[in-house]
Amino acid sequence: MERIKQAIEKARTRPEGHLVAERQVRAGASRPSPLLEHDSSTPVEAPKVQYLQTLTVNLDEEHLESQRIVAHQKLHPASWAFDLLRTQVLQKMDENGWRVLAITSPSMASGKTVVAINLAIGIAQLADRTSLLVDLDLRRPRVASVLGLRGAPSLNEVLTGDTPVHEALVNPGIPRFVVLPTQRSVANSAELLGSSRTAALLSEFRERYSDRIVIIDLPPVLAADDVLAVLPRVDCVLMVVGNGVSTQKEIEESMTRLSRSHVLGVVLNKDDAPSGHEYY
Ligand SMILES: Nc1ncnc2c1ncn2[C@@H]1O[C@H](COP(=O)(O)OP(=O)(O)OP(=O)(O)O)[C@@H](O)[C@H]1O
Ligand SMILES: [Mg+2]
Repeated sequence: MERIKQAIEKARTRPEGHLVAERQVRAGASRPSPLLEHDSSTPVEAPKVQYLQTLTVNLDEEHLESQRIVAHQKLHPASWAFDLLRTQVLQKMDENGWRVLAITSPSMASGKTVVAINLAIGIAQLADRTSLLVDLDLRRPRVASVLGLRGAPSLNEVLTGDTPVHEALVNPGIPRFVVLPTQRSVANSAELLGSSRTAALLSEFRERYSDRIVIIDLPPVLAADDVLAVLPRVDCVLMVVGNGVSTQKEIEESMTRLSRSHVLGVVLNKDDAPSGHEYY
């Protein structure tokens, strides 16, 4: 724990880096589905983007909570952490006119997918934003299973040119939130990610709607060259470090590999420190 904190402290001193803190996401008692509810205190405007051709799949609330997807549950003890993360990320992205954010980590199982989904849902809670979550972890795609999108369309066919992108988009029953899930892992992932088709897709996502934030779930930066293939196509990067998952050396090596990218910050995930939330 101490070693991770020191490494993050080091990362914080880099010109582009500043720390965004994430607290532990704890599963709590299940409660009625708030997926389609609106916070009555928030003025809700008609969404500017209508995904008329997008398949809508309603999600199972108990499954989501068991997978630590809680950003839409305002009463959940962990959702405040994703609100905080969302605000810090959006401030930094808005300041720079960035719209495409990649999420990676030094090692496997750091919580990238959990953070990516919760952040994308958190952004969609804002009435003037939409979020698009793209599963570009072509080695271990997990967005679909974490959300419970069984039998949904897949980015696989879009990347091979067999399906137009609008046929692969899914709205998981949350307003202003759209997902591009990947159902199957692929062997030539780095080549696909570095292809001109992927580049064109990402630039279409960036250019089409000015109020849309694109969140990209990626593999670990040290696992292969997949992340390096995508980095030139994204505006900025968020690094997720799982408490006790990565060594200081791995974190430092990851930051070196990201040194040519705009690193928004480091999320310390699976932190066991008390959140302090109950004192608000
Ligand atoms: N804050 C947290 N507290 C406790 N467990 C967590 C937390 N965040 C994620 N997890 C759990 O850790 C596991 C790995 O999470 P996740 O799949 O998001 O990691 P990942 O970095 O995307 O993994 P991979 O490298 O395989 O893509 C999952 O079982 C997830 O529920
Ligand atoms: Mg993952």
